[in-house]
Amino acid sequence: MNGSPRTPIRRALLLICALTAMISLLLILAVPAFAQEGTPPQPSALAPAGPNSAAIASLFTIVLVMASVVFVVVEGLIIISAFRFRRRAKDATEPTQVHGNTKAEIAWTILPALIVVTLFVMALQTQQTLDTRPVAAAEQMTVKVIGHQFWWEYQYPDQNITTTTDLVIPVGKVVNLEISSADVIHSFWVPQLNGKTDAFPNHVNLTWIEANTPGTYYGQCAELCGASHANMRVVVVAKTPDEFDQWVKQQQAGPAEPTDALAQQGQQTFMTGACIGCHTINGTAANGKIGPNLTHVASRTSLAGGSLPNTEGNLRRWLSNPPAVKPGSIMPNLNLTNTEIDALVAYLQTLK
Ligand code: CUA
Repeated sequence: MNGSPRTPIRRALLLICALTAMISLLLILAVPAFAQEGTPPQPSALAPAGPNSAAIASLFTIVLVMASVVFVVVEGLIIISAFRFRRRAKDATEPTQVHGNTKAEIAWTILPALIVVTLFVMALQTQQTLDTRPVAAAEQMTVKVIGHQFWWEYQYPDQNITTTTDLVIPVGKVVNLEISSADVIHSFWVPQLNGKTDAFPNHVNLTWIEANTPGTYYGQCAELCGASHANMRVVVVAKTPDEFDQWVKQQQAGPAEPTDALAQQGQQTFMTGACIGCHTINGTAANGKIGPNLTHVASRTSLAGGSLPNTEGNLRRWLSNPPAVKPGSIMPNLNLTNTEIDALVAYLQTLK
């Protein structure tokens, strides 16, 4: 091309390059800001609350720093070269064409290879940290985690508890998770406690979590599993050992017996209607296995797979049309009358 060296196209290209570099840099600098925003219910892998997530977060930080250095050096050299060696008005001829520089080529082959090997070794070490459970039996407990469309079931074999939505754990204890699925593939992910573990039907995946401090840690099913994949939340409630023991006692107790007339009417509706085909309330005629165990439904933080806070209004909304709240919900619209809903809400709210 013999045109003017400063054609509009070249200027535009230069501008695009400079803008891309600037935006990329800004995005990188903004990452720590996202980390500080790791307040619930926005789960953040950059605000670790246990040993596993801490190992993942520190690997991430190291990789981010290395990648940033490479990015700045490479982009910097490109930008400097583009400006310094651009064609000027007085340049009538093409510059000397050079090809091949053995030293440079060896350097840019070995350096990236070293970086990749370093990353590989560090990733292996982190993987090993995640796979190695602390061994002292007294410091451990087990929970079976079962994915359903679209909610998580938690079975505590040693405590003989079955619950849903909230995975309640004691702080400072290794909680071994045996993860599987009742239907399709899901993925159990609580970013502040650990990475993702897939939940397969007919296969148990093992992982473990430990929370350092009491609190509520939010998570999300991380494998597209159907219409309400996004509504399939995880809520981990980490309690002090004393509070946890109290919770265990409460969950092991039988269901509350309703005393007021409306709640009793709701119990009647529940026990004689379609509800018992899918739901269990321990020690009663209701022993369906398709839906969540409702023995202590009122003690949980949320409803509908963790997508709604457990309030009277939301319970009413849920009962009046489940698929409208959680698309693809297996619980159908039972066309309950307002009277039935009032009574059922009153009853379910007694099940603390
Ligand atoms: Cu379960 Cu996505």
